[in-house]
Amino acid sequence: MDSWLRLTLRVQMLGALSFLGCFALVLGVLVAPAAAADKVVLSVDSSKTGAKIDRNLFGQFAEHLGHGIYEGIWVGSDSNIPNTRGIRNDVVAALKAIRVPNVRWPGGCFADEYHWHNGIGSPRAVTLNPNWGGVIEPNSFGTHEYMDFLEQIGAEAYVSVNIGSGTPQEAAEWLEYMTAAQPTTLEKERAANGHPDPYKVAYLGIGNESWDCGGNMTPDYYIDQMKIYSRFVRNFNPAQQDKQPMLKIAVGPGGGEARWTEWTEAIMKAYQHHTWSWDINGLSMHNYTVVKWPPAFKSVGFGETEYAQILKSTLDMEDLINKHSAIMDRYDPEKKVALVVDEWGGWYAPLPGSHPGFLAQQNSLRDAILATLNLNIFARHADRVRMANIAQMINVLQAMILTDKEKMVLTPTYYVYKMYVPFQDSTFVPVTFNTGTYTHDNITLPRVDAIAGKDTRGRLWLEITNVDPNQPVEIEADLAGITAKSATGETLTAPKVDAVNDFDAPHVVMPKPVSARIQGGRLSIMVEPKSVTVLSIEP
Ligand code: AHR
Repeated sequence: MDSWLRLTLRVQMLGALSFLGCFALVLGVLVAPAAAADKVVLSVDSSKTGAKIDRNLFGQFAEHLGHGIYEGIWVGSDSNIPNTRGIRNDVVAALKAIRVPNVRWPGGCFADEYHWHNGIGSPRAVTLNPNWGGVIEPNSFGTHEYMDFLEQIGAEAYVSVNIGSGTPQEAAEWLEYMTAAQPTTLEKERAANGHPDPYKVAYLGIGNESWDCGGNMTPDYYIDQMKIYSRFVRNFNPAQQDKQPMLKIAVGPGGGEARWTEWTEAIMKAYQHHTWSWDINGLSMHNYTVVKWPPAFKSVGFGETEYAQILKSTLDMEDLINKHSAIMDRYDPEKKVALVVDEWGGWYAPLPGSHPGFLAQQNSLRDAILATLNLNIFARHADRVRMANIAQMINVLQAMILTDKEKMVLTPTYYVYKMYVPFQDSTFVPVTFNTGTYTHDNITLPRVDAIAGKDTRGRLWLEITNVDPNQPVEIEADLAGITAKSATGETLTAPKVDAVNDFDAPHVVMPKPVSARIQGGRLSIMVEPKSVTVLSIEP
């Protein structure tokens, strides 16, 4: 409740309400929590806008792990599964529809053992994947295949370079291989491998979890390494020199405990004193919803208690962002360095019978709600949090897509990303409200969440999450700054909190059309229990 109260306060501040107004609203939360049947009143003032909700908040992460890349994306050009140059057509079409802005690759822990030269030309070196099951890594999906995949889905590259077991020279040569336009040996090698034009690399990750699987480094050791990589791993693409320069993302925290705050503090302190010869534009943060380690919660076949526990735990994201943003604000008050939440999502027990190193799990309605709660937190912090990558895109952890040979199914989380497309690059519009509460088994959660945004064409969008799995919520929204005539959209829900889409029943959790009533500048709608609703408000 504490963190939610703080969140409510923040929303209020963003709304630039008067102090008295804020006070009354907070009092409302404290003394009059909404009973199950209470109406929730939202105040949406589209004349008071905030930061841009960067499209990169909807980024994806694809690691060489389990069936994330092999089978999920890559089937090879001789496969019976319809593909374009080895990349599954069904997966590409599904990802195009959610407008994936960027894909972080090749890891994860895998990145710090990846040697890029194994993944170009022919024949490819066959290596191992010691992090994830010790299985064979055929290297069939390498730089060219990744870039082809990005082009097919219309996303940008976010490449994590190996600073754990690689060298600055290896990383520098990879970037030269990918981006050089002049006829160097590496540029010619790239051209001979089929791509004469330089690739664009929009984002560069300097290591991954360097405090742990990435080499167990101390902050000081990491900072020394990071400066070297920042200096020498150059992007030579002529199109990325003045405009769209490559943004460099340093390894950041993995939690809220002292060792993580010390890590953030150390990096940001170094950044404050950085000289012309090195720079960073982002600090990564990883935060999974696990509750306890090793992950034991089931991804399907659970009840209301597990639903409430997981959602309670996922709201820790708010505290974590506040904690690390506060440190960043001290060293970078102009918010030049973005907080990049480049690994997040629900991490549950492996599916029975699956390889434990493959991190295979189902994806339920609970995960759809988990996703909206996190995306809404990111949106409310859009001034600092400008990029996020859910883990992971296909067949691994909280995935968008599950595949089984030629079959493909879209998960509830996929549909959230689809419904949120209008929020990509929209402008944050403050929504103030009393969240109400939902309580189960002594676990109390905010009952309702909501965000609003004005899209690039000036249209207003409103998202409402009803966390309560049992009661519908009557929503009334005061709409200031717009003369609304109609509001239509979609709702995502299902009969049970653990409802999933699977290969036998792929349409259990699907968005369905809804419309709201508009009368006298007020919008009203009854939102279903355990649901996500996105409405477009038409003037
Ligand atoms: O996403 C799975 C793993 O979780 C990643 O490889 C690592 O960065 C994190 O610990």
